[in-house]
This record gives sequence, C-alpha cells and structure tokens, in this order.
Amino acid sequence: MKSVPSRLFLAAAAILALVVPCSGAADDIPSQKLLLDFGWRFHLGNDWGEGYGLAKAGTGYGPGAVSYSDASWRKVDLPHDWAIELPFDKTADGSHGFRAVGDGFPQNSVGWYRRSFDLPADAAGKRLWLQFDGVYRDCTVIVNGWFVGHHESGYSGFRYDITDLANCGGHNVISVRVDASQAEGWFYEGAGIYRHVWLLEKDPVSIAPDGLFVFSRFKDNVPKGPAELHVQARLSNALTVPADAVVAWNVTAPDGTREATISQAVRIGASSHIDVEETGVVPEPQLWSPEKPRLYTIVTTLSSGGKVLDRAETSLGIRTVGFDANLGFMLNGEPYVLKGTSNHQDHAGVGSALPDAVQYYRIARLKAMGCNAYRTAHNPPTPELLDACDHLGMLVMDENRQLGSDSHHVELLDEQIRRDRNHPSVAIWSLGNEEFQVEQTVTGQRVAATMQSLLLKLDSTRPVTINADLGDVYTGVDAAVEVRGWSYHVGPGMDAYHKEHPLQPNVGSEQGSTVSTRGIYANDPVRGYVSAYDDNAPEWAQTAETWVSFFGPRPWLSGGFVWTGFDYRGEPTPYGWPCINSHFGIMDTCGFPKDNFYYYQSQWGSQPMVHILPHWNWPGREAQVIDVRTQSNGDEVELLLNGQSLGRRPMMKYSEIRWSVPYAPGTLSARAYVAGKLVAETKVETTGAPAKVLLSTERAAIGADGEDAAIVTVSVADAQGRVVPTAGNKVNFALEGPGRIIGVGNGDPSSHEADTFVATTPFRTMAVDGWRWKKVKDPYPDNLPEEGVTFDDSTWDPVDVRGDAGPLGLRERGIFRARVTVSAADLDSAAVEIVFSKVLGGVATYINGQKVGGSIDPRSAMVYDAKSLLHPGENVVVLAAANYGPEGAGITKGVSLRLQAQADPIDWSRSVFNGLGQVIIRSSRDAGALKLTAHADGLEDGTLAVSSDPVTPKPTLP
Ligand code: GAL
Repeated sequence: MKSVPSRLFLAAAAILALVVPCSGAADDIPSQKLLLDFGWRFHLGNDWGEGYGLAKAGTGYGPGAVSYSDASWRKVDLPHDWAIELPFDKTADGSHGFRAVGDGFPQNSVGWYRRSFDLPADAAGKRLWLQFDGVYRDCTVIVNGWFVGHHESGYSGFRYDITDLANCGGHNVISVRVDASQAEGWFYEGAGIYRHVWLLEKDPVSIAPDGLFVFSRFKDNVPKGPAELHVQARLSNALTVPADAVVAWNVTAPDGTREATISQAVRIGASSHIDVEETGVVPEPQLWSPEKPRLYTIVTTLSSGGKVLDRAETSLGIRTVGFDANLGFMLNGEPYVLKGTSNHQDHAGVGSALPDAVQYYRIARLKAMGCNAYRTAHNPPTPELLDACDHLGMLVMDENRQLGSDSHHVELLDEQIRRDRNHPSVAIWSLGNEEFQVEQTVTGQRVAATMQSLLLKLDSTRPVTINADLGDVYTGVDAAVEVRGWSYHVGPGMDAYHKEHPLQPNVGSEQGSTVSTRGIYANDPVRGYVSAYDDNAPEWAQTAETWVSFFGPRPWLSGGFVWTGFDYRGEPTPYGWPCINSHFGIMDTCGFPKDNFYYYQSQWGSQPMVHILPHWNWPGREAQVIDVRTQSNGDEVELLLNGQSLGRRPMMKYSEIRWSVPYAPGTLSARAYVAGKLVAETKVETTGAPAKVLLSTERAAIGADGEDAAIVTVSVADAQGRVVPTAGNKVNFALEGPGRIIGVGNGDPSSHEADTFVATTPFRTMAVDGWRWKKVKDPYPDNLPEEGVTFDDSTWDPVDVRGDAGPLGLRERGIFRARVTVSAADLDSAAVEIVFSKVLGGVATYINGQKVGGSIDPRSAMVYDAKSLLHPGENVVVLAAANYGPEGAGITKGVSLRLQAQADPIDWSRSVFNGLGQVIIRSSRDAGALKLTAHADGLEDGTLAVSSDPVTPKPTLP
C-alpha cells in the first residue's frame, strides 16, 4: 500500500480492519488467467463426423483423438474467422454477404481446431477451466479425447471445468469442432473461434469465474455527494474441507493515488461456494462519462494464511444511468442525449475476428463523429469491445441475441449479464431485436417480463429495453419493458404514444438508416453503389436528417442509435449482387467516413466544423451544375469557388445547405461562422492523376505482444499528395519485420477482392506397401518383439491392405508389418504424416518401434505425425489388430505417407476504392521495426515504418 492518506472512506460494519497487499507478481499467485490464442491448428472441412463416441467416455476419434496428427493443418492464431477466407458466390446467402459458407456449402461449413500444450506438474491440484469468449457456432469441445461440451450460440461465452481430464506434467490436446452451417442472424456472422480463448488455472479456493460484481449507487440515482460502493463476490472451495480465507477489495481512484481496502473474513464450506457482499463509501467520487471516462480499479484478492490464492482486477466507473419519461435518458443525474449507432461486429480484412486494437480503433472512429453510445446489434459483444468503451468513453446498449425465458435462454442471458455487468460503459440492457413472430403476443410479453426480472435480479442498476417493431401501440413486449424502444416509425404516432403512456420512458433504439457509398454521388444499381448524399433510405427507415430533426426537439425520446455506424457484410441494401455488404454505415467497413459522418459530426460534435460534398473531380462536366452540400455546426456557411464567393447562407437547425454550383476545376472552399466569427474552413480540390501511394497510421508504435495491431490507411494521391477521390489502383503490399499482414480492405461494397490470403500447401503421397502379417494370440502388451524394428518378418504372409476388409476373422488377432524408404528430402517436407485410411479392430500403431497411438476408431482415417519418427532410409511401420466383429479386421483401404510442401509465400494486394484502402498488421512477440511497402504500377511506392515495442504480454499458455 502506498502511504498516501486515503480519501476514500469505506464503511461497513462487518469490515475487518485488515489491509491485504494488493498482490505480488502474477506468478506468485496460484490462480491465473492464461491467454490461449496462439499456436492453434485449423482444418476446413469435416471427414470425421462428430469426432467422439457416445457409447463410452474418452473415445475421441479422428481429430478428437489425442494421437491424431494435425501437423499438416494450417497454423492459426486466434481470433480467427474462416468465412472471410472463402470466395464470394452468387448462390450463397446474400444476407450473410455471399461467402461460400452455410446453406449450400457443406464442404466449407464445418471446421476443426486443435491446440496441443504441456501443463507443468504443479498444475495438479488446481481447478482448470477452458473458457471460450465466442465461437461461431455450434461447437463441440473434446479434451484429451474426452467430449466435454457442446455450445450452440455463436455469441455467448462458455467454459468447461477440465480439471480431471488435464494431464498435469504432460501433454494435452484440445479439439474443437465448429459448425457454421446454420445461421443465427440475417447479417454476416463469420465462422470459427473468433474471440479469445483462455485457460483459467484456479486454486481450489478461489474467486468463481465471472464471480465478481462491483458497482456504485447514489441516493435517488443522482450523483451528489458520496457514492455507495457495492462489492460482491462468489467464492468457491473445491476442497473436501472448509476453507478459511479473507476476501479483500483494494480500490484505486482514477488518478492512481487514492487507495483503500474493504475486506471480510470468510469460511467457505467444503465443496461449495458462498456469495459475499460488502459496501463502502466513496466520499468524493470522480464520475465516469463518455466525455471523461474515469475508471477506478478494484483489485479483488482472496487470501488464506497470508498467501494470495486468487486476484482479479475490475474497472469501476462511478456514474448513474436511468431514464425519465419526460427528460429522456439521464447520465449522472442530467438529461443526456444518446448520440448512438447500432453496429454488427465485423470489420474490413478480418471479418468477425477483430484484434482488440481494432475494437479500440472503431470506438475511436465513432467518437470522432461525436457519437457517445453503441448498440451491440443483435448479440452480446466481445468483452474487449466493452473494455474499449469503458476506457475511451462510450455508452453501450448491450443486446441479447434471441428472446426466450426457458431455461436454455435464461442460461445464456445469465452468462451475458454476469460477464458484462462490471463494465461502466454498459448503460442499458436490450432484450433483443425485432422478434416479428412473437413480439406482439401475450407470450412475447410474458417472456420479456421474465427476462427483465431476471436481469434486474442480476443487475438492478441499469434500465431494460427492447428494439421491437411494434409501431405506435402499447402491446406485447413493449408493455413488459421499462423503456420503450423505437425501431424506426418516426412520426406523429410517437407523440400520441407518449401522450397516452406518459410514464413510460422512450429511446430510439434503432433509427436513421441512410444508405450510401463512400465517394459515390449517383445511384448505380449495376455496380451496386448508392449516392453519398443523405437522400436514400429504405422505405421502413429514414435519412439522417429526417430522424435527427424529429428527435432533436423531443428530448423525451432520449436520442437514438443509428442503423449503422459502420457498414457490415451482408444485407446488401438496396441492391443485391454484386453488392456483398450493407450501405447503412455512416462509415464504410474500414471505418473511412462517408459524407454523412460529417452531418452527424455537425449535429453531435462539439468542435467547430464544416464539410463540403461531393469531391471536386468532375472532368467533362465543366459548367454543369453540381449538387453541392455543406454540413456545419456554425450558424452560417460561405461557399467559394476558386476564391469567388458563391454566397453566405444560414445553417438551418438539423439540416445541411444545398448549393447548385456550375463545375469549374480548381478549389471549392467553405467557411463556417458563429455569430459572424470564422470558426472553421475546409476545401475540396480538383486533383491531378494518381502519382503515388501514401501509407499512414494513427499508431506508429504497437506492442510486441503478438496481439496488437496497426491499422494502416493506404491512399493513392496526385503529385501534390492530394488523395485522388476516384482512384481505384491495385496496390501490392510487402511487410518486413516482426509482424504480419492479417487483412486488407477498401470499403467498396461490391468488391470481390480477397480480404485475406491463405498460403497454399500442396501435398504428395507415397504408398506404404509390402505388408506382411501374422496371427498372434495377444497383441495387447506394448513393445512386443514383433512390434520392434529388428524383428524378422520374412516368413510372414504378404497381405494386400488396400481392400475393403482385413484378413482377421472373428476373435482373431494379428500384427501387420511394412517397410517404407524415405529420403532426407522427403523428411524436409513441412509435414510428414502416415495415413491409415481405414483400420478395423486397430489396437496400436508403432513407427520404428515407437508407439504412436492406441486403439483406432474405424469411423475415419487415422493420421499420425511421422516426421520426427522416420529417418532417411528404411523405416518399419507396425499395426496390431484384433477382431471382435463380423467384418474381416485389419488394415483396409491402404496406407500412405503424406508429404506437405512448404507453404508458398503470400502476395498481399488490394485495390483502393475511391482513393482509399486499409491494411491491418498484427504484431509478433518479437520487438523490432516493421516496414510496410505499397506498390502500384506506374505510381511511386509508399512506405511506412511501424515500431513494434517491447510490452508485457498478457499471461499466456505457452
Ligand atoms: C432492421 C433490423 C436490422 C437490419 C435493418 C436493415 O429492421 O433490426 O437488423 O436488418 O432493419 O434495414
């Protein structure tokens, strides 16, 4: 503890005056949360069915078997989304973005992941949990050949206790089968383990996973005077005797200087858990808000006999949220207009597998627009998105995926709330979105009411709403929830509703929805582009100006959440193929602003600004009238063409100014005034032809933790360095240094170029022939002489192992032997595997006398990693088998060696779209200088230096 006197006064009758040291180094503590993102192997396709048997425990087969070789599978680090790697296909599901996955593409819809790791012997005695933050979807987890669980939802986290299955002091294999055949939503959803995976190592006496809840309260929900601090913990004891311990909450204020500790002595019964709770007081709280995201840090420790057994860090934002039926949303006791966007979770280049840094990038982009609220449409978010919102300052409407109050759905909701309720950014819970079949019914109402009460039981500090599409009537789910969400339906009916239901607060849970394409100024149904003027919206929705000008004078509506902040893949609207993504975004899929970004900035932002659209490159249209618009938060705007004033006009509230300007190349500039004073200026210029590629990034230094990412903007500029707004040059990228490119994008909603590139790794095979066999009485003991290298099998009978049945009759047992000659060059292959296509009654396999696997399941080929077991020259392969069935047992369908060539190098490329493109670079764990080079034919190369600096990585499982 620091010796600074604490100003944070904590009062609770039961508090012991104990001060427990916050912690030692993490590795002093027997409980830790280890990142398990690195070193996975991935295989697209499924030749193995489920990969585990139901009849007996521990019968993983195919990739579910420990001995199965994944040496030729692709190496991937998480997060990973394989849908983004697939080609576009016109026959695929357009609402999911026309990727060749899901309905109609069974060969691309199941993928397998495997991860091998060793555990130290001292992990024995700990509780071990495998935690997945999100897998899309329908996922089966097998650990060391044991089926441990099946999880369907693509959006909720889940974890399995694998304590007894883990091999402490030995080798472990996790196999995960992911089936993305079925869609959950009607938007791009990705495929694979697209969020983090963790191994939780817990002392038997520890804080339960997701077992903490810290929050503050104020009298009347108005943050005047001291804040009540509430801390709750679920503490587990897996021992067979009771455990005495001390739980302590160590609080640090946002300025890092104030500290205090609440603690409580506890006794946790044998093999059980307890829930404990304490309260304290923060006399002069520093409040959290999107404008000032001040975070307290609470370190919870559980100690026994002076030793810290578990430690967890939680951010606390002291703030109040709520709704008033007349004043609208309230933050910290004051009316606060929600300037929100709804968003799906995918981004250019990476699909739904966003590095954490991309979450931060996206939230920062939204903030730059003046946005202060984010709706996680239509599913629980990735935890790191909420971290970004906590730290950068963004309120969140945290949305549940599917309406339901049966035990299955309640379990999912429970998981979401326990996981997300510690995030101060989360301000509103949403029960779901537009449940057309049920939202208007009495059943829907009952279900919503049950969900709301469950929510309030788990978290009584936040209001609950739902985005239902019910028009102006008080019915169904809307009659159940505390806050009425409005899904579009802008108009006088809202006023009538408010009058009839004056006590129910309201929020624009889904509003706006201009469709537009960045840098395009005329609708083009053939190419699938929509003009970037704020002119087009689907018939069920409104343009930005329409909804903003309706909501603006009605504070009781609380503001709302635009559909959407960013374009997302899928739902190409209003045009279909070749369009593969939506046009709803205020920004494109890269986060590049469309013109409406500036409209929202003029309405939401606080900095003086003015923006002109369109660009000023209209060769061939000289003297023709161009529809020019200016957006500003000034009260007047003057427009000038080549220095000549075209007039000074007042800005109407909630609006933009429209000008008709005969085109002449040069400079079109605008000046914004407030009370006659110039506050902002901008210009668009006619550029020259593309001359060079420019690269830039907001983060020239990233962390060498293997996870951090640099998001690089690629622009094609003229000789004077001005971005050419119509450029579409193809650009090739090369990266030197410790990192790799993981994705490229350009925001073009109709682009079918690759977002990511996967190396091709050709195979060749060599038959393993010349088998001899002999019946034996008992092939079960390990390392029989017949299974060794030197055994003389020359008197054994030759056998053809390529048939459909083996030579062993019922209850017969035998051993099969073959020799295979390989060269040093063969063994230089990236992977060398031996493939038994089908073995009936297989008992054990040996390569050069070393046992590589036990009993073999006939349901799939058995593949062993042979690279380190073979040597140049002659090698001996042996298989023992026993027949307990009617078919002839033994080796069938042949045996071969599979040699995988080294991966071809990847050539990264992407065209810019209307002058811009994006490259995402992921760091490695080695620090050093990264250099990105961009080359486009006929243009000057662009280069960018990014430094990958040493940082302390998250604790990671090696
Ligand atoms: C809404 C729906 C969104 C999206 C949008 C497209 O009704 O909630 O998920 O489909 O329409 O306009």
